[in-house]
Amino acid sequence: RRVLVLNGPNLGRLGSREPDVYGSTSYAGLVERCTELGRELGLEVEVRETNDEGEMIRWLHEAADASLPVVLNPAAFTHYSYGMRDAAAQRTAPLIEVHISNPHAREEFRHTSVVAAVASGTIAGFGIGSYELALRALAGDRPQD
Ligand code: DQA
Repeated sequence: RRVLVLNGPNLGRLGSREPDVYGSTSYAGLVERCTELGRELGLEVEVRETNDEGEMIRWLHEAADASLPVVLNPAAFTHYSYGMRDAAAQRTAPLIEVHISNPHAREEFRHTSVVAAVASGTIAGFGIGSYELALRALAGDRPQD
């Protein structure tokens, strides 16, 4: 089963980016952990990252058309991108919103997610482990829709 792990802006800079907030694992390390766990779970995981809202929207269309489950860390797009939200709303398979940090424990502007209502569920605050929990949820037989 193919799964897309889609990352929004600035996540390509993991490791060097505010390590006190996002941890010391690099983006390459994130890709490795997701693909390795995927292999264990019998998932073919493809990890992507973009700083471009249009590209993220096109990837969500691709997932909708191919009925691919998605683990989505929309990063800052979370808080304002209605275009991305409307693309996510077209999903034809489970879509799990993830965050490394706990946005609710941070600045006010991070308390709103415009995607949350169209996601199957949200996992936030477990560091890189948020992605692992999401992949395990997708691999399991629990309801996600
Ligand atoms: C984030 C939280 C967002 O508020 C922030 O803009 C990010 C990363 C997280 O994974 O904790 O870029 O999505």
